[in-house]
Amino acid sequence: MEKMRLGFLDRREGIRDIFLLEKQIFGSNYLSLSDLFYMYDHESYELLAAIEQCGAEERIISYLILLDAFETYEIIKFGTVEGERRKGWGKKLLDLAKSMARDGIFLEVRETNRNAIAFYGKNGFEKINIRKNYYRDTNENAVVMCWKNKREEETDGSGAL
Ligand SMILES: CC(C)(COP(=O)(O)OP(=O)(O)OC[C@H]1O[C@@H](n2cnc3c(N)ncnc32)[C@H](O)[C@@H]1OP(=O)(O)O)[C@@H](O)C(=O)NCCC(=O)NCCS
Repeated sequence: MEKMRLGFLDRREGIRDIFLLEKQIFGSNYLSLSDLFYMYDHESYELLAAIEQCGAEERIISYLILLDAFETYEIIKFGTVEGERRKGWGKKLLDLAKSMARDGIFLEVRETNRNAIAFYGKNGFEKINIRKNYYRDTNENAVVMCWKNKREEETDGSGAL
């Protein structure tokens, strides 16, 4: 029977699965295997995944790579397997990231990636900037989006009561 599990990627071999997904989802803009292993091993990065378990078999359905940039997370990569999209796995992983982020989360996304921009918009992210000609391969603009942790604003970040 299939079971879903959501959390930190807890086995190194999972990196090879993510590498294959990177190629499927991002075409020529995939992260190399050595970059992925570096991120897995380095404490500044968090790798989250939604994993389907069927007996001893595991399949990564969605993954999210975060860089911990001093209380704020930056989304480095985020993908859900085609055929498994619009089932809520992306939102669940993003909610997990939000629960870990003290100040907030930011990201850059290609201006032409309307699906991702709609996804982030519906999940509380706002457009805060445009970086002109940011992507070297296509010269496309990047949209910078940000989600702020409201709890942090309410307490002024000082922790004072
Ligand atoms: C962006 C991405 C990770 C979203 O993952 P997902 O698992 O499909 O997202 P969810 O199912 O959790 O979507 C949650 C909500 O976001 C919104 N949303 C998701 N995809 C959307 C789309 N294509 N268009 C409009 N809204 C969308 C919807 O409100 C959705 O809820 P609903 O289906 O009940 O309406 C996925 O579309 C993907 O892998 N895209 C290709 C890679 C990519 O562009 N990554 C981001 C680069 S920064």
